[in-house]
Amino acid sequence: MTTFTKISDDEVPSISIDSRLIISKIEDNVYGGFTEHMGRCIYGGLYDPGNPLSDENGFRKDVIEAMKELRVPVVRYPGGNFCATYRWLDGVGPRENRPARPELAWIGTETNEFGTDEFLKWCEVVGTEPYLCLNFGTGTLDEALGWLEYCNSDRNTYYANMRRRNGREKPYNVKYWALGNEVWGPWQVAQTTKEAYAHKAYQWAKALKLLDPSIQLILCGETGHSSWDAHVLKECVRFDLHGLGGSTTASLIDMHSIHIYTASKDHVKNVTAPRSAERAIQITAGLIDLARIENKVPPSVRRQKICFDEWNVWDPARAPGEQGAEEKYTLSDALAVGVWLNVFIRQAQHVGMANIAQSVNVISPLMTIADGLVKQTTWWPLLLYSKYMRGSSVHVGLRASEYEGDTHPAWIRGAVETPWLDVSAALDGEGWLNVAVVNIHEEKDFETEIRAGSGVAGGEVQVFTVDGDSVAVVNTDGAQKVGIQESLWDGKGLFKFRKHSLTLLRWKVE
Ligand code: AHR
Repeated sequence: MTTFTKISDDEVPSISIDSRLIISKIEDNVYGGFTEHMGRCIYGGLYDPGNPLSDENGFRKDVIEAMKELRVPVVRYPGGNFCATYRWLDGVGPRENRPARPELAWIGTETNEFGTDEFLKWCEVVGTEPYLCLNFGTGTLDEALGWLEYCNSDRNTYYANMRRRNGREKPYNVKYWALGNEVWGPWQVAQTTKEAYAHKAYQWAKALKLLDPSIQLILCGETGHSSWDAHVLKECVRFDLHGLGGSTTASLIDMHSIHIYTASKDHVKNVTAPRSAERAIQITAGLIDLARIENKVPPSVRRQKICFDEWNVWDPARAPGEQGAEEKYTLSDALAVGVWLNVFIRQAQHVGMANIAQSVNVISPLMTIADGLVKQTTWWPLLLYSKYMRGSSVHVGLRASEYEGDTHPAWIRGAVETPWLDVSAALDGEGWLNVAVVNIHEEKDFETEIRAGSGVAGGEVQVFTVDGDSVAVVNTDGAQKVGIQESLWDGKGLFKFRKHSLTLLRWKVE
C-alpha cells in the first residue's frame, strides 16, 4: 500500500518507509510460474529429450537451474487455452500407446509425449508445487474426478491403481486445481455464460472436495473488473458444509482467478498499464467481500484470495499465440514487470498466488536456444524481486510528481494515480528492509529524499539497479544489454533514481 501525495515537477520527491508499518504477509506463491502446451514452452522448453543439456528424463537441466534460481514456488499446467480440449488420459501410461491429437487452442498437434507424470516429476525435480487446470471445455466432471483420483488418492481404486501401474506408488498430493480457464472468452472451445459457468463450477467444486477435501479450488474469473467476476463470485462464494469434511474454516472456493496482460508501444503507457491490475485487484477484493456479506459467509471461513494466474507484458498482435508468442522484451517491458511486481507487493493482503505467463519460451523472461539460455530483460526484475521482495509488505509514503497523459487502458486515468516513481517495500524474514523503486520517466533522473525509518541500522545500503542505454534495448544471444548492477550507498543525502531504471535498496533492520 502506498500513500501518495502529488507534488510539482520542481519539488524534491520523498519516500518514507517505516518497517514497523506492516500491511500483510506476502505469499511466496506470488512468484509462481506457468507452463502450457503452447509453442516451445513444453516441447523444446522444459522438455527436450536428446539435447545434451537434458537429463535422463528429457528435462532441460539449465531450465531447471533457472527455475531454482528464481525459487519458483508453484507452477500452473497444462494451460491456458490448451486445457479446453485436453484429455489427461491421453498423456499417461506407456508412451507408445499415447495418441497424437489435433490441438485446437493453438492449432497444432499434441503428441502427448509429456503428460501428468512427466510434469509432476519435473515439479519434484525443480522443488515446486504443481497447480493443475481442469478441462471446462470438452471435459466432463467424471474425467476431472478421475484425474484428481489419479494424482492424489492412496486408495485401492481404479485411477489410483492406474497411477501405480504407471510407476508411481505414492500419491502426488496436488493441492491447487483450477475450475477451468478463461471459459468466458470467444476464443475458447465451449465458451459459456457466467450463469452456466457458475452453476457448473459450484457442482464440480462440491464433487471434487468430496473426493479430496484437502485441495484448494480456484474459480475462473475474468479481469477482476467485470460483471463475470461479480456474478460467479456471488454464486460460488457461499457457506456450504457439503464437501468440506466438517471444517468450519474451509469453503468450496479458495481463490478467484483473474488474468491481465498489458502492453503499449508507447513507453510511459507501457509502464503505467500494470496499474490497471492494481485497481482490478482492489475491485475483486471488494467483490469477494460483497459475495461473503450478501451470502452470509461466517467470518470463521477463510477469506478467498485472488489467484492472478496469468500476468505479464504481452501484445498478441506483435507475438501471436499460434506462432508461439515469443515476445522480445525491451527495457521498457522490464520496467513494466517491475511495476507489475510492485502491484503484487502493495496489494499483498489480497493476492494468494500470481503466475507469470509463461515460464519458458512463450511470452517468457527465459528463452531456450539449442546450446543454452537467453535471459530476456524481464528476467532481471523477476529475479531481484523473487530474491528480496518476500516476507511482509510494508507501507510506503510517497511524495512525487505524476505522469498526467493518456494511459492504456484509458480508464486508468481517473481511477489510479501514475507517479513517476513507482514504489513498494518488503520486510523479509532475515531482517532486511527492501525498497523497490521504478523510475518510469524516460528522460528525467529524480534526486529523492529517502526516510527509511527509525529501525534501520546506519551504514551502507545495498543497491541493485536494472537499466540500460534506452527503453528500447533488448537482450539477445550475443548481447546482454540489460542485467543487474550492484553497488553501495552511504545512506546520506539524496538518492538519484536514474531515468528509466529499476532500483532495489536494502537496509539492515536493527
Ligand atoms: O498465456 C497464453 C494464453 O493467454 C493462455 O493460454 C490463455 O489462458 C490466455 O489467453
